[in-house]
Amino acid sequence: MKMITILGSTGSIGRNALEVIRNSKGKFKVLAMSAHRNHELLLEQIEEFSPKYVSVGTEKGFEAIRERYPDLLTYRGEEGLKILGGLEEADTVLTAVSGAVGIEATIEAIKKEKRIALANKETMVAAGDLINKLLEEYRKAEIIPVDSEHSAIFQSMLGGRKEELKKVIITASGGTFRGKSIEDLKNVTVEEALKHPNWSMGKKITIDSSTLVNKGLEVIEAHQLFKVPYESIEVLVHPQSIIHSMVEFRDTTVMAQLGAPDMKVPIQYAFTYPEREANSCFGSLDLEKMAQLTFEKPDHEVFKGIEYAFEAGKIGKSMPTVFNAANEVAVELFLEGKIKFLEIYNILRKAMDRHIPVETLNFDTIKKVDVETRNWVMANFA
Ligand SMILES: NC(=O)c1ccc[n+]([C@@H]2O[C@H](COP(=O)([O-])OP(=O)(O)OC[C@H]3O[C@@H](n4cnc5c(N)ncnc54)[C@H](OP(=O)(O)O)[C@@H]3O)[C@@H](O)[C@H]2O)c1
Repeated sequence: MKMITILGSTGSIGRNALEVIRNSKGKFKVLAMSAHRNHELLLEQIEEFSPKYVSVGTEKGFEAIRERYPDLLTYRGEEGLKILGGLEEADTVLTAVSGAVGIEATIEAIKKEKRIALANKETMVAAGDLINKLLEEYRKAEIIPVDSEHSAIFQSMLGGRKEELKKVIITASGGTFRGKSIEDLKNVTVEEALKHPNWSMGKKITIDSSTLVNKGLEVIEAHQLFKVPYESIEVLVHPQSIIHSMVEFRDTTVMAQLGAPDMKVPIQYAFTYPEREANSCFGSLDLEKMAQLTFEKPDHEVFKGIEYAFEAGKIGKSMPTVFNAANEVAVELFLEGKIKFLEIYNILRKAMDRHIPVETLNFDTIKKVDVETRNWVMANFA
């Protein structure tokens, strides 16, 4: 039985992970789980999965858990996340919190040489250089990607050797607003932006998908995870979301990974790799029902998220940290109705233009750049 820590159990990925565990016939056991604001759901999850450790973001949640489960080891806030990330008893730590808040817990898990099932892409974007440096040092630690695109790249790479790789092709659904013009996007509402055509996900990543910043974050994540130069990464819009990504080898062979759009499959694969296990909650892909698989270039004129991410990634150092932090705040401001949709790109542009990149090989520098960027966006756009 594998002991699993789930950071962000109340979120979309966290709930999918619990569904995997619920149907795993005892192969996995929840060791620890965390929530931020939704302590009511966390209480239900504690009741069902009986973890040994929990952490919650709010004082109210902390008190509620302590009252109902006085013997449970309960922690709070970012310190709590860190403690859960570094638990010795864990076999695998699933980092499924949203945003750069996942960095420190991931670092703790690396230092304990754990397997990290990484959903939290912001960690690899904001702190990729540091994470890679730590992985060199703590050699038994390993990251298995959960993001469907990176899981697909990881699996496709098993079809050849790293030195034979020519290109990584990241597929994108194109998001809610595929085919729209700048004029069409000027006054889109939060509700419209939250309607993703193929995937049901948390709010932040759904907005990121509609701006295509999500794809930009994935480009930087792919560069950091697979050590592929930016020149060898391509994004292709594939609206059916059946091919989750591909790689091309130097003999022009393309290996792709296909599957129903269901995050439970890459989550479980990150738990079981190199094995593959059946699970009653997975549904097979019905290829006969699929009329067509189509591909097109993304519209960089309208959706600037990918281009800005390539730019930030190529500049490197702290520029991806700035790209990520500015985007996190911009998305929050859009969700709160304080800025318009297209303003997100404007914020990214300005935050990057004013920043002078520094090395990001220690956490304090990353934190400083992250906080400084957030404060600047708040001061100028909130
Ligand atoms: N959803 C997907 O299909 C998908 C696919 C690929 C990658 N990802 C990545 O996976 C991560 C999670 O995405 P999601 O869609 O599951 O997000 P989500 O539904 O918004 O869930 C986020 C989780 O993080 C917790 N959280 C939020 N802010 C926090 C903070 N400041 N401190 C501690 N915990 C915090 C939330 O707690 P409360 O709900 O209790 O407040 C929740 O458990 C993101 O990095 C996303 O990019 C998601």
